[in-house]
Amino acid sequence: MDSTNVNTPLSFGDILEHDIVTEKGVLLLKKGTQLRESHLHLLDHFNWDYRINYKKESDVLGQKNSQIKIEKLINDCINQYSSILEKIKIGELPDLNGFFNGLKETYDEIKGLDNAIDVIYGFQDLDQYTYQHSVNVSLLAGLIGKIMDFSDADICLLINMGIVHDIGKVKVDNNILNKNCSLTNQEYAEIKKHTLHGYQLLIDILGNEKIAEGALLHHERLDGTGYPIGKSGQNIPFLVQVISIADSFDAICTERSYHEQRSPFFAINILIQDAVSHKLNSEVTYTFVRYLMNQYKGKKITINNGEIGEIIYVPYDEPHKPIVRCEDRLYDLRNIMLKIVDFVDLGQKELRSKKPTL
Ligand SMILES: [Fe+2]
Ligand SMILES: [Fe+2]
Repeated sequence: MDSTNVNTPLSFGDILEHDIVTEKGVLLLKKGTQLRESHLHLLDHFNWDYRINYKKESDVLGQKNSQIKIEKLINDCINQYSSILEKIKIGELPDLNGFFNGLKETYDEIKGLDNAIDVIYGFQDLDQYTYQHSVNVSLLAGLIGKIMDFSDADICLLINMGIVHDIGKVKVDNNILNKNCSLTNQEYAEIKKHTLHGYQLLIDILGNEKIAEGALLHHERLDGTGYPIGKSGQNIPFLVQVISIADSFDAICTERSYHEQRSPFFAINILIQDAVSHKLNSEVTYTFVRYLMNQYKGKKITINNGEIGEIIYVPYDEPHKPIVRCEDRLYDLRNIMLKIVDFVDLGQKELRSKKPTL
């Protein structure tokens, strides 16, 4: 192990050899943490003196290097998308096609991973919620396309539709988007307009009707209860139905300014309810939930009787109700009134507790 000079500054990828604790005794980062952008921002926030021991990235296993590469790619996407939105705000027409190529490269790095969902959700930068949400939806939509054996062209379209689905929010007042309490009817009506703004922006910038329709129709629901038009059934393009599912999942389980973060299991139950009530496409929803739950197999979870266990089997027809092992007992959640609450702390919660700003 290559221990470093104590006077060298910390940087991305380094591994802490000591806990970092504030003056008041609050644990900021645990020994062994490999530093990501969000950790460095956290240290900056506390004006932390970087002269502490750490190990260099060269000590890290190949898998971790790959994860770092992906994190860098994701951070690049976030930063580029942030710049694109800034250009739009000052009336410029940005180059989206060049950006789409970099995004596809990020998707290509992730698509074959057994832990693709962990990789996406392991790198959340809560100071960048708006951009992070767009990148998450883009990557999730691409993954759904892959597990459903869509053509490469459709997967590309999903990735591109996903990244810009909320682009119209640049035209909505930030005070409304960032509001911490519930919205008035008028404010909610303003937020709903991001679909119309997004459609017009994408027609102006790209002239691509299919991508623009993703922005316009991603809040429509199959039963006609969505907005802005109230379209229903097959009048909503199939790829947009996929975007709606990726968008719902990420919006529910990512912390927002107006509600606390919810677990992916909470989000999965909402998706299933919406599929059963014919709001979301049932085939796509169940396929996505099967994929998610299989990625969560073997992870430590808590169930609502307080016990800790792990998912050991995901049923095909009811993937949201797996068989869970808690010590010596097996619970088949299809047959009893128990449900999974969340993962046992994965070391992310000290970062999650920081409120995002849009
Ligand atoms: Fe939206
Ligand atoms: Fe969204």
